[in-house]
Amino acid sequence: MKSAALLLLVSSLAFSTPAIAGQVTLFEANCARCHQRDAKGVAELYPPLAHSIGEYLQVNAGRAYLVHVVSFGLSGPISVHGRRYNRAMKQFPDLSDAQVAQVLNEVLTGFNRELLPPDFVPFTAEEVRKKRAARLTPDQIADDRDDLMRNLKKK
Ligand code: HEC
Repeated sequence: MKSAALLLLVSSLAFSTPAIAGQVTLFEANCARCHQRDAKGVAELYPPLAHSIGEYLQVNAGRAYLVHVVSFGLSGPISVHGRRYNRAMKQFPDLSDAQVAQVLNEVLTGFNRELLPPDFVPFTAEEVRKKRAARLTPDQIADDRDDLMRNLKKK
């Protein structure tokens, strides 16, 4: 009985948090259930986005890669900070170009600031629109990621 009451309290707190905060960000609404609110991910299941994906912008293809993952998904084994993940990330066709730009900017400036190149410019809807036109499959994006990692290592 006691634990049921506690559970009720905990779940009502969990659900009321966004209301108290007033606003749920695009990242919290669409990404946090897997990548977590602190963007640190879940070991073996969901890779971290914090202190990680900002580095990809050190090579040119990094910007397109990030737009592509959110637009078209990603599947295949990947390794982040020495940890392996082999699952699939679904695509988000319902996010508008402006929303894809906004959610990426949120992750990059909110959780990756120290890794951003000094000349970092935020994504715009227009840039996302152009990069989204590519129409890639999740497997192709995994291949692009492999190339990206090789180029990052060369730097
Ligand atoms: C249902 C769970 C889930 C949701 C929701 C989700 N992701 Fe993912 N994401 C994953 C998984 C799983 C992977 C790793 C896929 C693999 O192993 O190939 C991933 C990978 C990624 C990567 C590639 C990371 C890297 O190091 O290359 C990025 C970027 C990313 N997600 C961003 C996002 C963003 C932004 C959102 C919200 C718009 C989001 N994800 C929502 C599960 C999710």
